[in-house]
Parts: sequence; C-alpha cells; structure tokens
Amino acid sequence: MEPVPVVLGVGGGIAAYKAAELARALMERGCTVETVMTAAAQEFVQPLTFAALTGRKVITSMFGARTADEVLASSVEHIAVAQRNRVLVVAPATANLLAGFAHGLAGDFLSTLYLAFQGRVVLCPAMNTAMWEHPATQENLATLRRRGDLIVDPEAGELACGTVGVGRLADPQRIAAFVMRALDDRRDLEGETVLVTAGPTREPLDPVRFISNRSSGKMGYAVAEAAAARGARVILISGPVTLPAPDGVTLVHVQTAREMYDAVMSHLDEATIIVKTAAVADYHLADVPPQKVKKTAMRLSLELDPTPDILAEIGRHKHDQLLVGFAAETENVTAEARRKLKSKNCDMIVGNLVSHSDGVGFESDNNEVVLVTRTGETIPLPLASKLVIAGQILDHILKLRLALHASQS
Ligand code: CTP
Repeated sequence: MEPVPVVLGVGGGIAAYKAAELARALMERGCTVETVMTAAAQEFVQPLTFAALTGRKVITSMFGARTADEVLASSVEHIAVAQRNRVLVVAPATANLLAGFAHGLAGDFLSTLYLAFQGRVVLCPAMNTAMWEHPATQENLATLRRRGDLIVDPEAGELACGTVGVGRLADPQRIAAFVMRALDDRRDLEGETVLVTAGPTREPLDPVRFISNRSSGKMGYAVAEAAAARGARVILISGPVTLPAPDGVTLVHVQTAREMYDAVMSHLDEATIIVKTAAVADYHLADVPPQKVKKTAMRLSLELDPTPDILAEIGRHKHDQLLVGFAAETENVTAEARRKLKSKNCDMIVGNLVSHSDGVGFESDNNEVVLVTRTGETIPLPLASKLVIAGQILDHILKLRLALHASQS
C-alpha cells in the first residue's frame, strides 16, 4: 500500500504524551504523520517531541505567522492540511474538543481543520470517567458517530486523577491498527483463514528454569494484524511474548514446542494460508524434574531430545494450503531459505538475518528479508518496519497463489 498521509491532532490532556507513541505506531505501519497541537496540548508535551519523531514541522497555532506573506499562507493552511491528508486522528480527544467538533466550533487550527476535513476522522477520547459518562459528552459522541466519525473508545484502568474507571486513552498500538483497518479498503484476504505462529517457545528444565530464544513475536503479530486488516479470519498461535493481542484475531497461547504443535494441528484443517514465523525450540528436556534442581560443585550436562518440526510436518500433510515458513539465519540466508523450502515442502520461505546488531531481525521493530518461492523466485524486501514487511509478504503470498494455480491449470 502507498504511504498513507495522516494528520494527528493532539488535544490537551495528560494522555498527550501517548500521542507521541501513536505517531510512531502509525509511521511503523507506513503512514506519514503531520502533527497539529492545540494550545492546551502544548502545556503537556513540547512540539519538538513530535517534530523529532515525524521529521516534520508541527502546527501549533492558527496565527503563528509574522510577515504579510506568512499570514496569507497560514490563512489557508488548514485547507491545505485537510486536502493533503487521508485521515485525521485526534488523540487524546478531550471533552472540550469533542464538544467543539459536535457543534461545529472553529476557534483554533484543529477545530477549523476538523470542519474542512473530508477524509476519514478517527477520534480517540480520553478523560475522567465522570466526564466521559456525562450526558453532554455522550450526546456529542452520538452526534459525531452519526456523522460518520470513527471513535476508538477509551479503556478502563487507573486514571491520572487517581480514580479507576473508563477514560484512559486506548493503547496507541491498538489505535494505529484501528486506523489501518479503517483505511484498508483492500479486502483481498476475505474468505481466507490465515494461521500464524509467532514468538519463541519455552522448554522447561525444572519448575523455575527454561530454554528459549530471542524471538519477540513482533513479526508474527504484524502478519496477523495485517491479514486481519485485509479481511482474513486469523488464528494466531503465540509463544510467550509481551505484545498486546491484535484486535479481531483469535489468539491461542502456548508455551512449549509440543503445545504449539498440538495447537497448530488442531486448527490446521481450517487454514487456507499458514505462516510459521515462530522461532520454535529445536530441543527440549524430555523428563522435567518436578522440583527445582539444586546447585552442586559438579559440572552439569543436559541431555535434550528433538522437538517435533511443525513446519515439516505440515509440509508432509498439506493439501492445497499455501505454506510459508521463516528461516532465521546468521549467514547464507538465501541458500538456507532455499534448502528449507525444499526439505520442508513449503511454498515460500522468508529468510532473515538475525545476527545483525544494526536494528533488524529478532527484537527489532524493523526487518530486512528475502523471499524464496516454490516457483523459483528470489525477492529481496529492503529494510522496513515489520508491519510494512508483513503487508508485502501477504502481497507476495497472494501473487504466488495465482502463479501456482495458473501453473496447475
Ligand atoms: N520450525 C518448526 N518446528 C520446529 C523448528 C522450526 O515449525 N521444531 C519452523 C519455524 O517456525 C520456521 C522454520 O521451521 O518457520 C525454520 O525455522 P529455523 O529455526 O530457521 O529452522 P530449523 O529447521 O530449526 O533449522 P536450523 O535450526 O538448523 O537452522
């Protein structure tokens, strides 16, 4: 998808600092972000934060201009900003902003922009519970919803005022995913069931210790989110990670390779596309001692048994499903990816280098991969966020399926 131009309106609430994380989350999903801050927002966060994150000038007032030329230019700037962006996201949308939008007030840049804006509007309210529940706020929200604005409801939790209740700004990752779903009019995965595995597995050594690996789950969660945005039913089987569950995805938690194997096999028949991003442990301790192992002065050896190779097992049994594996390598990525493509009977392997210390691979938000396909293609995908890479992988999966069908008929 082309970069989506988004204008982010930041209101004056304590959650304004989370709008910085939202700007980043939108950029990770391939959006360009232009920021407008209300005067109140600037009491909470410096415009410089957004300028540094987005690499763009931040609009802080309607009449910041000094010279006659600047005044002339700025007098129509809200129209230009409205015209060049596809989405207006307001976070935090305070009670005052919602009231202003609902009643068509145009007293500052953000409210003027709102009136001039013809693209999608996504409002993310955040306020104290009593203010949220007040009939005035609820009536304003009903008006805004009726006009077609999209509302990302606040979450329940501890609020800045010390109370607990509904009113906390929704998680920025969730808001960004919501924006992408609202925008993505490609429903090219509708009717598909995509089975994704993600994260590491954990193989216990005793009740308090385990063997695992550095996989963060970000790549698999990105594939799950991107597939759901394009209309797929998504089953995400995840090892232990710290990521929030993507909305609209069926999440199955597992710990060990054996549990992942069982979960995958029980959902396999439903899947039309299988993407195995998980970094499955290759070995485990077959007989885990029931009590914590005590330290001695002696050397300790562990005898480990192989875990089931889930991908290879699917490869042996698959019918017309499209099977995509990952190959995390520290060298010879393309050659290893090609070897695994054949040995595990996959349709595509996504090879990625994981020894980098320069911001790609495990734990990073970015990735740089090479796709090798059953049809003999080798497709490098240059450095980008995992969410952008996830979208590109899905594009190539769909292309590959067309090519495979064409070659069969
Ligand atoms: N995989 C799997 N089950 C395993 C091990 C790996 O399903 N027990 C899958 C992974 O999910 C990934 C692919 O196989 O999609 C390749 O994983 P990788 O660890 O790179 O390959 P291995 O087969 O384990 O080979 P090696 O460790 O020798 O590189």
